[in-house]
Amino acid sequence: MGMRSRKVILKLRQAISDYLLQKGILASPYSILIVSGALQALQLISIRLLQKGSTVFLEKPSYLYSLSTFQAAGMHLSGIGMDEEGILPKELKEKNNKSERSILYTIPNFHNPTGILMTEERRKEILQLVEKEQLPILEDDVYGDLWLDNLPPSPLKAADKNGNILYIGSLSKSLSPGLRIGWIVGSQAVIERLADLKMQTDYGSSSLSQKVAYEWLSSGLYEQHLEQIREQLLIRREVTLKTLNEYIGDLGQWRIPQGGFFIWLRVFSDLSMREIYSRSLEKGILLNPGNIYSQTNTAFQISFANAAIEDIETGIQKLGFILRGEG
Ligand SMILES: Cc1ncc(COP(=O)(O)O)c(C=O)c1O
Repeated sequence: MGMRSRKVILKLRQAISDYLLQKGILASPYSILIVSGALQALQLISIRLLQKGSTVFLEKPSYLYSLSTFQAAGMHLSGIGMDEEGILPKELKEKNNKSERSILYTIPNFHNPTGILMTEERRKEILQLVEKEQLPILEDDVYGDLWLDNLPPSPLKAADKNGNILYIGSLSKSLSPGLRIGWIVGSQAVIERLADLKMQTDYGSSSLSQKVAYEWLSSGLYEQHLEQIREQLLIRREVTLKTLNEYIGDLGQWRIPQGGFFIWLRVFSDLSMREIYSRSLEKGILLNPGNIYSQTNTAFQISFANAAIEDIETGIQKLGFILRGEG
């Protein structure tokens, strides 16, 4: 690696350190590892830090590719239920066996796939519980910057006194998935172990991408960009909710997501999930069915970030007809 790119990389880590400070996370550049997106963060952590045969507790349902990553590394997955406020501490406590090695993987901000935001109160309960149970946490915060109504509560990592929490962030959801820039924050010793594996895996993330990320973060453009993104997401959320009310109405149940871009739609229909899926596909709508995430077989994930507004409207309208048996 040339001297110039080494400098850029340290500068990016410094910029991320400054950015994390705004979230209440105190992390020196040496406790930050740049990775090629949050998915690589999960892969590196699974390979280097998690023990084969140990248990990963995680929200049920959870982010699909995290499941396959943990499984590929030989972990047992143990799903924990959620309510409006996030993952359920009581169930976590019941399932955790202190004598076995385990870790909690959680997405407190605008959870994928349900969109749920963990409340401040729930964060405190979880922090108390993991401290008591000595359960390490892997906190995935890729949606944290996409709040729409209010700033979310501080990340769990901000209250990490004993270096028990590994924190993952990424520019994929808020800026560009193709840039492939994310980060892991942990103790310096852990970051060094992960950096070693990162080096063996791909020699480091593209220095061009790192330079671009540095410019966005350090110039203030990233913050400006987030304001524009929020405006767009607010418009789209509004249209999506309005159309759901109009065409799905009492055939479904959903929450108003306070950030991110997912609506978790539970449907009530005489049709099976498979039938709804294939009839929708015939009409040109590709649904993301809940049963790929867990045994939840009555829900679909709707993303309002990507599709054109007209497509969101016609898609939901058609789904409404299908659920009524008219499509
Ligand atoms: C919760 C969660 N974590 C991680 C990722 C992966 O992000 P990246 O594109 O940065 O690898 C995603 C993308 O869908 C996600 O939803």
